[in-house]
This record gives sequence, C-alpha cells and structure tokens, in this order.
Amino acid sequence: MKAAILIGGRGTRLRPFTLEAPKPLLPVLNRPFLEYQFQVLRRHGVREVVLCVSYRAEAFHRVFGSGRRLGLRLSYARETLPLGTGGALKNAERLLRGGPCLVLNGDVLNAFDLGVFRRFHRARRAEISIALTRVKDPTLYGLVLTDETGRVRRFLEKPSWDEVESNAVNAGAYLFEPSVFAHIPAGKPYSLERGLFPERLAAGARLGGWVAPGYWIDIGTVEKYLQVHLDILEGRTPFAPGAGARPLRGADGARAVAGPGARVAPFARFSGAVSLGSGVRVGRGAQLSDCVVLDGAVLGDGARLERCVVGPRARVGTHAALGPGTALAGGSRVGDYSQL
Ligand code: GDD
Ligand code: MG
Repeated sequence: MKAAILIGGRGTRLRPFTLEAPKPLLPVLNRPFLEYQFQVLRRHGVREVVLCVSYRAEAFHRVFGSGRRLGLRLSYARETLPLGTGGALKNAERLLRGGPCLVLNGDVLNAFDLGVFRRFHRARRAEISIALTRVKDPTLYGLVLTDETGRVRRFLEKPSWDEVESNAVNAGAYLFEPSVFAHIPAGKPYSLERGLFPERLAAGARLGGWVAPGYWIDIGTVEKYLQVHLDILEGRTPFAPGAGARPLRGADGARAVAGPGARVAPFARFSGAVSLGSGVRVGRGAQLSDCVVLDGAVLGDGARLERCVVGPRARVGTHAALGPGTALAGGSRVGDYSQL
C-alpha cells in the first residue's frame, strides 16, 4: 500500500519555530518529527510514500532525499500555491495509483495498527475510512459523529462548543479508495475536511470511522510541541528518542537527554523532562524544568527555564528567567536578569 503525507501547511500556530523549518521537520528529541511517522509506516510494510509539499518544499528534499537512508521510496508532489488538504492530494493522484492508499496529516503522532485499520475499511466496504481519537477539546479538530456500526454520519471541522456531541475527532489518518479522486477538483484549493468529507456524506457515500487506540497528539502549537517531548521522555508513548539524543548523566531524577556536543556546566539542575539539542551550552547553576532547548542555544549561568521552548542558536543571559509558555525565536537574545 502507498501512503501520502500532507506536509505543505505553513504551521502558523507553531511560530516562531516554523519560520525556520516547516513543522514536520522540527526536531523532536533530535530527529525530524516526520521520522516518527516513517517508523510507523515501515513497521507496517509501507515503503512507497508520497510527500505532498508546498511551504518550504526544498527543505524536505534536502533532509530526506530519495528516502533510501530511511528504508523508504519517497516521491514528492509539489504545489506551487498551497492547494489545501484535498487539492494537495489530487495533485499527487498519479503517484498514488494502484489501489487504496493511506493518507496522513504530517503533524500527528499515533502508533496506529494499519492492519486493523485496513480490515475495518474492507469490512465496512467504505469509500473513505477515517481514524478517530478521543480528545478533551474537540473544537480544535474535526468532529466526527458515527453510528453504532462505525459509519460516519457527520463531519464538522472546528465545531463550536454547542455543536459538540461527542469527543471523537479526526486523527488525521485516512484510507481512500481510488474512486475518491474523481470527486476532488483538480488545480484549485480544496479541503478534505470542509469539502470532500461533508460532500461525500451528503451524496450518501459510505465513510467509516475507526477509533485508533493509544497515544495521539497533533504537534501544531507550541504547547503541544513541548508536550510531545515530555510524553516521549516520560514514557507515555510507544516511541523512543532519536539515536542522537543520549541520556544526560547527573540529571538527578529528571529525564534529560542531550544531542551531540551539548555541554552542561557544574551545578546545573534539571527537573521533569528536558531535551537539549546538539551543541547546546548550559551555564553554571542554571535550572531547567520541563523544557526543550534546540540546537546551538546557549543558556547563561544561573538562567532559569520552566515549561518553555528555546529556538536554535538563541542566547539566554545570566540569571534570566523564562516562564511557562515562552517560545523564544531562533537566534534571539535575552538579556541578563530579564524575566520573560
Ligand atoms: N500539501 C499541503 N498543502 N499540505 C497542507 C496544506 C496544503 O495546502 N494545508 C495543510 N496541509 C497539511 C499540514 O502541513 C498538516 O500536516 C496537515 O495538512 C493538517 O493541517 P493543519 O493545519 O495541521 O490542520 P489542523 O491540525 O488544524 O486540523 C487537521 O488535523 C486535525 C488532526 O490533527 C484536520 O484534518 C482536522 O480535521 C483534524 O482533526
Ligand atoms: Mg494539525
């Protein structure tokens, strides 16, 4: 089975980090986020993957190339103007020929069982099957209402609270029969969530909703990007840090990892879960709790960081304090004794 991954979005909710690298290439524990998805695909024997690229398309080529290093055969379907999730897929149609295909959003992480998903899809004789997950706040996602047989009755993208009738949302993984492509307009922006799904339901097509068990996250906001690091480090997911991320010795009870060349001065203290990118420097007596420090950033002596993300090559002055929710842009400077 072939897979398509939608990775052309601009990742605006994850700025400033997505100004430097597109969201699916942001490092998560020292490996590009998309490599975790690749791992799930490989485990299920999917080797041919089409990347639907638009924003910063060349960056994906540079990092993944033909995919050989990853044990995959990658091809690229490029949109000159972003075509939306449906238009992007239509643009990849000729690369996806040869049977039903798997479609993934490029910013979600879930170790779903493709075999079970396919059996569900076949048993329901569905035209489209949508993997679902249960969340606390469905207004941030695509709400999916199903009947007791797993048939989708309604798809409502970003519902308001008075429309929320269940907590099952679109997990960003679909199985598509080849016949679906005939219903997607070519060469113009079109959304799967606001266009295709509601339109196919209105036309009486069979759409299946399969609840994918286990851990799931969409890393699309700074808070969630931080959270995926904490979840992996604290063992709440079936994923492990990249090979480049080594456990940091002397981090007391904290779960801390560091990339190649990271250096930690004496008396620095860690708590919770901490990820240091390659070449990061942590000053004497700095205190880090539940945070992510990306490649090449420098933290001054006595700096204090809590629940925040520091961009690549940023410099945090001595005794500066970064509080919860801080997202420090790559290359920026924070003065000595500043409080953010
Ligand atoms: N190629 C291409 N072109 N990809 C796109 C485009 C485009 O024009 N627009 C968005 N994408 C990609 C993004 O890069 C991302 O990987 C994926 O499509 C989903 O876009 P997001 O912008 O992250 O959407 P969302 O998180 O608000 O909502 C979507 O995901 C939720 C699950 O995380 C929807 O599919 C929801 O229904 C779903 O619940
Ligand atoms: Mg998203």
